[in-house]
Amino acid sequence: MIIGLLKEELPERRVALLPEAVKTLTGMNVKVLVEKNAGLNAFAPDTEYEAAGAGIHSKEEVFASANFIIKIQPPDAKELGLMKEGQVFLAVFNPLVNHSLVRELCDKGITSFSLDILPRTSRAQAMDILSSMATVSGYKAVLTAANNLAKFFPMFMTAAGTVTPAKVLILGAGVAGLQALATSRKLGAVVEVFDVRTAVKEEVTGLGGKFVEVEGATDDKAAGGYAVEQTEDFRKRQAQAIHDHAVKSDAVICTAQIPGKKAPLLLRKETVEAMKAGAVIIDLAASTGGNCELSRDNETITHRQVKIIGNSAFPSDMPSDASKMFGKNVINFLKLMFTAKGEFSLNWSDDLVKGTCVTHNKEVLNERVKSTIN
Ligand code: NAI
Repeated sequence: MIIGLLKEELPERRVALLPEAVKTLTGMNVKVLVEKNAGLNAFAPDTEYEAAGAGIHSKEEVFASANFIIKIQPPDAKELGLMKEGQVFLAVFNPLVNHSLVRELCDKGITSFSLDILPRTSRAQAMDILSSMATVSGYKAVLTAANNLAKFFPMFMTAAGTVTPAKVLILGAGVAGLQALATSRKLGAVVEVFDVRTAVKEEVTGLGGKFVEVEGATDDKAAGGYAVEQTEDFRKRQAQAIHDHAVKSDAVICTAQIPGKKAPLLLRKETVEAMKAGAVIIDLAASTGGNCELSRDNETITHRQVKIIGNSAFPSDMPSDASKMFGKNVINFLKLMFTAKGEFSLNWSDDLVKGTCVTHNKEVLNERVKSTIN
């Protein structure tokens, strides 16, 4: 089995495998072909890949010789055109929503894996790219908020007077929200957190945040620890509670998501208009519609002196560590298919292999994807 690593197109600056990850593979006797300049935007030159035992090639050569292709972003039209029946393709392509791509991979006879649908079990934690990238996003969101705020995060008692700490409101206490809480606290802010899953209350208070509860949230055990859509009555009460807290906040970090669905709308236009002048909103959910009514994906807008930054791609702004974490997750996933001696087999009795596979033998294999596509 020959692995091919592709270069991403800007604005994506990460690379799926850094040279250290490639070295792990070559150490397992797996041959690795790397597309020229694949790691350049993550500060990993071709010479480091060569030192790790990989060969440097053009995109066309990688597709012609490798049977297992790896990248982060979905394949573009050129890459789809270069794919050959029977090839294995691993990336992150949101198959629950990106149905036209799923159909194309299926028709081409590609065995495709999308790491964003990896089942979230304890064993999967070491391969969970959603968690590792959410860690980067939560951290970077807070630094971006601090950088755009016209006041300090920490409290200061100085000869020039006392500076009060910033008030941060975090919507959603998943992996990104909890990292945003931890980072905000390290910078000295006072933090409040909203989530519909009351199970996270202990984690929030443990990290020094105040959990703001709205009674009557729908919690579905069958959703496997994820949030589900809420009733109209709950949404109204929650919007009012969020309004009351947002108007006192200096920064709001939006992280709430519902897998495979549009992000919940939590911060309405009226709330933004009632917020303090100079306040900052960072919307990590911008690419799935945003938690803030005014957010625009990949854009920063200012509405009545409140800055709204819609950014769901923060990991790309921290390409070194984000690529390092992504690559470690990929290697741990590949270890389900490659033995220590580099022998490859697709073990369909492994729930993580099966649960992450989207298409195989010209069929949509994944049950979750199948149920959304029909
Ligand atoms: P996510 O990115 O899907 O959502 C972020 C947060 O938004 C969640 O905490 C969710 O409850 C919250 N949310 C959704 N709708 C909301 C609303 N209307 N109002 C307020 N908050 C709302 O979540 P993430 O970070 O992917 O984590 C989801 C779950 O998965 C957690 O229970 C986490 O512990 C679990 N998990 C399990 C892993 C594993 O076992 N391998 C790895 C990582 C997370």
